[in-house]
Amino acid sequence: MSKDAFKIAEEISTKLDAATISDAAGLEAFRIQFLGSKNEIKALFGEIKNVANERKKEFGQTVNALKNKAEGIFEKGQGALENTASATAHANLDLSRPTVPNPRGSTHPVTIVLNKVISIFERIGFTVAEEREIEDDWHNFTAMNTPDDHPARDMQDTFYLKNSIDRLLRTHTSSVQARVMTSQQPPIRIIAPGRVYRNETISARSHCQFHQVEGLFIDKNVSFADMKQTLMYFAKEMYGPDTDIRLRPSYFPFTEPSAEMDVWMGTATDEAYRLTKGTGWLEVLGCGMVDPNVLSNCNIDPEIYTGFAFGIGIERTALQKYGINDIRMLFENDLRFLKQFNSAI
Ligand code: DAH
Repeated sequence: MSKDAFKIAEEISTKLDAATISDAAGLEAFRIQFLGSKNEIKALFGEIKNVANERKKEFGQTVNALKNKAEGIFEKGQGALENTASATAHANLDLSRPTVPNPRGSTHPVTIVLNKVISIFERIGFTVAEEREIEDDWHNFTAMNTPDDHPARDMQDTFYLKNSIDRLLRTHTSSVQARVMTSQQPPIRIIAPGRVYRNETISARSHCQFHQVEGLFIDKNVSFADMKQTLMYFAKEMYGPDTDIRLRPSYFPFTEPSAEMDVWMGTATDEAYRLTKGTGWLEVLGCGMVDPNVLSNCNIDPEIYTGFAFGIGIERTALQKYGINDIRMLFENDLRFLKQFNSAI
C-alpha cells in the first residue's frame, strides 16, 4: 500500500512538471487542481495512514515538497501573466493623448491689483524691495519722522509683539523706505509691496491686515513735478489713458509737502457715480516730497538729495475695481467668491 502512495505522489510530480499556464483560465484550473480546497496534493495526505510507520516522515516530506512545487509554479505563472498584461497595456499607451485637464485656480483679486501696480512701475525703472513684516519702532516710526506722541504709535493702532515696546507688526510699508535708505545710497528707485497690520475693529470698511505698495525715488534734483509726472503715468496705466489726476494738499509726517492724489472718473456712468460718491474724483494714494528729516535720519544728505514717496492702498483699489462692498470678502477664502476672478492678470 505504501508503495501506491509514493507512486501517486510521483504521478502528481510528473503532472506538475508538465503543467503549462498560458492564460488566466489555465492559471485558475491549475489552482483548483493543485492548491484549491479539494486539491490532489491535499488528498494525498489522506494516504498517510497507509504508509508504513518508518516511511511516514519521508512521505510527509514528499507531500510538502509537492505542495511547495505547486505553489512555486502557480506564482511563476501568475507573475508571467501579469507581465504580459502590463506589457500589453504599455504597448497600447498613446503618449500623444491630451491629459485630463487640471482644474485651474484663479488669482486672488489683491494679487491681481498688486501685480498690475508692480508691473506699471517696473516699466519705468522701479525695482521691487521686499522687507520684513515684524519691524522695530525705529524703522516704522522714528526714522519716518513720526514723533513719540503721534497717535499712530498708540497701542490702539499698532500691534506690538508680546512683552515688547520695540517690536511690532509694521503699520505701513513706509518702513521699507528706512530699510532701503539706510542700506544704500541714491539714486534709489524702489517700490515695496507688502502686507501691513493695524489694530482696527474688523468691519465691511476696514480690516486689521491689508496691503500697500510704497514707492520711493531719491536722487539729485528730484522735484515735485517729477512726482506728479510719475503719478500721472501710473494713473493713466491703471485707470485708462483719458484719466486725469489732481493733487490735494494733505499731511504725512514723512513728507513735506504732502498730497493726496485723486483720479477723475467723472459721474457719467452709474459705477463712476457710486465710486466717487457723486464728486467725479476717486481718492487713490498719499504722496509727497520726502521730508529732509527722514533723509538725514537715514544718513542721506538732504543738501545733496531730494526725493518723492507715495503709498497706495491695494484692498481699496481692488474693492473699487471689482465693485466689492465688504473688505472681509478678501480674507475669507470663500471659493465661490475667489472663483470669479480670472487667473490671467
Ligand atoms: N504710509 C502712509 C499710510 O500708511 C501712506 C503714504 C502716504 C506713504 C504718503 C507715503 C507717502 O510714502 O508719501 O497711510
